[in-house]
Amino acid sequence: MRPFDDRPVLVVVTGGIAAYKTAYLVRRLREVGAVVDVVLTRSAERFVGRATFEGLTGRPIGTSLWERPLDHIDLGRRAGVAIVAPATADFLAKLATGQADSLAAATLLAAPCPVLLCPAMNQRMWKHPATQRNVDTLREFGLWMVGPDVGQLAEGEIGIGRMSESVEILAVAGRLLEEQSLEGRNVVVTAGPTRAPIDPVRYVGNRASGHMGQALAASAWRRGASVTLVSGPTTRPHPYGPHVIAVDTAEEMLDALREALEEADLLLMAAAVSDFRVPSPSDSKIKKTGGDLELRLVAGPDLLKETRAARDRRGIVTLGFALETDTPIENGREKLSSKGVDFMAVNEVGDPEAGFEVPTNRITLLDRWGEVEELPVLPKEEVADRILDRIEARLD
Ligand code: CTP
Repeated sequence: MRPFDDRPVLVVVTGGIAAYKTAYLVRRLREVGAVVDVVLTRSAERFVGRATFEGLTGRPIGTSLWERPLDHIDLGRRAGVAIVAPATADFLAKLATGQADSLAAATLLAAPCPVLLCPAMNQRMWKHPATQRNVDTLREFGLWMVGPDVGQLAEGEIGIGRMSESVEILAVAGRLLEEQSLEGRNVVVTAGPTRAPIDPVRYVGNRASGHMGQALAASAWRRGASVTLVSGPTTRPHPYGPHVIAVDTAEEMLDALREALEEADLLLMAAAVSDFRVPSPSDSKIKKTGGDLELRLVAGPDLLKETRAARDRRGIVTLGFALETDTPIENGREKLSSKGVDFMAVNEVGDPEAGFEVPTNRITLLDRWGEVEELPVLPKEEVADRILDRIEARLD
């Protein structure tokens, strides 16, 4: 999966208890297609053995400067990104002072690729001015950092010092591998359903998981954009990177959108906005009486139409999604012009491999220049990448 497909990633493991989490990180890197080399420090080997990493990578593991004399040059030279996980206080100090007394330290000193540090240590070790000074120095050197996170530490304390989770490390490493083709751009993405309340307990809503919008937000962020994700309720974790604004109703989504669009260059409108709302929701729970309940629904705002003037004024390139049951291409084309968007991704309802609650999608991408591109069934992450490739080609 992009951007990891067949890309060489170097993982340097140093001697902290969080090293056990690095085994899972390496597995995830392999799952998304990376070719992973692992270097262990001597103390890392006390926490997780080389057999574990050899099994996970299917490649020889480096531990010493003396095994293959040029490893410390070759490993960094072929890597697209180097990840140090966990990065201990001791190892940060070594890197900050340019030491090269182990394969791990020498490799990073010679590595021309971006280096991502994932610190993990006791909270007092992290907060110590010596560590903080080393961290500042390493940032000045141009090294990247993710974490440490706040939470339960191995020794039972609660505080800052946990190594970041694999999803976060993968997201940042992915950004370091990707060409920064959207750097300097502000991208707004909407995702998920909206809810129209009936009373404090019940609502009218749409079927949507938020997955497609999240994949678009993640892909735009990886390409260097500054991303705002306006999300309706979802059970899925939000992607690492974008600034998330959580909303419930279509009206709240419209307010958030209006504000976000003031800075935007690109709008990706993947939310399944509910078209109807209950005119005056009850403040208290409606009790059942044994009889039927009749519900009157009135039209809610159409967000693309409501924001059209602002989008036109600012020249915001816009993508919409059209979910159709009948004559999808004609309907999609009609929506493209009536909603004033530049691109329309058309989905067909009822396709078992597309739409809500499945991890794949099948779309036809229309644009206002009359082009039609039919994409095969792909994971939603890949659909997002293909959509953004297409939009980027038109951006300038
Ligand atoms: N959309 C919107 N505001 C709404 C409904 C939809 O901005 N109230 C946006 C969606 O986010 C999507 C596009 O409009 O990008 C098309 O959504 P869709 O549900 O297919 O179209 P509708 O306008 O709801 O038309 P219909 O339900 O009649 O097909």
